[in-house]
Amino acid sequence: MNLGTLGLIGSAAGGVEKLRTRLVEPAMDRGWRVAVTLTPTAGTWLDATGERQRIEQATGLPCRVNPRMPGETSPHPPIDCYLVCPASANTVAKLALGLSDNQALTTVCEAIGARQVPVVAFPRINAAHTRQPAWNGHIEALHRAGVHLLMDDDYWPLHEPRTAPGKDLPWKKILDALENITKFGSSESV
Ligand SMILES: Cc1cc2nc3c(=O)[nH]c(=O)nc-3n(C[C@H](O)[C@H](O)[C@H](O)COP(=O)(O)O)c2cc1C
Repeated sequence: MNLGTLGLIGSAAGGVEKLRTRLVEPAMDRGWRVAVTLTPTAGTWLDATGERQRIEQATGLPCRVNPRMPGETSPHPPIDCYLVCPASANTVAKLALGLSDNQALTTVCEAIGARQVPVVAFPRINAAHTRQPAWNGHIEALHRAGVHLLMDDDYWPLHEPRTAPGKDLPWKKILDALENITKFGSSESV
């Protein structure tokens, strides 16, 4: 089955080290073509382990971190659905405010405003992030903009900082949600 092209944005949060094995390759097995963009910090992390190169080998596309030069064309094909996963608290806040100071944010901020394809995000956060005074406003802004946030207890029960080392992301539920959203325009638990 051909599900189209998934624009996968990874930021510097737990689980990004497993992006290829738990999200990119399973998404490709389900029928997505996957184009990956990383925030600069996530890019540094995955460069250090060789994962960025392995993502490129798996997807057959450049794993973007830096913006293109003005005279260059985009190295990624047109995107049918964006998934920001894992989304750090920092990346969530910047998306809500429309801050586009790296390639990953530039891409998703434009998609949020364009409203042509679904934008889905899995905030990989802890309870302290949600008590930051600006957090609720960011989440409301993203909801109002039509972003599908996968963040109730079914997806990610909150933990206090440094109390859940190795807590795994609900990879399969995230991939299932993507299919629901792209097929039916909604997800049962967003
Ligand atoms: C080892 C490590 C793990 C981290 N895990 C998380 C996380 O799970 N969620 C989060 O919001 N921030 C986490 N952070 C903090 C972010 O990496 C930091 O806020 C960074 O500036 C995010 O940048 P980005 O959003 O541009 O990728 C972690 C930092 C380190 C060093």
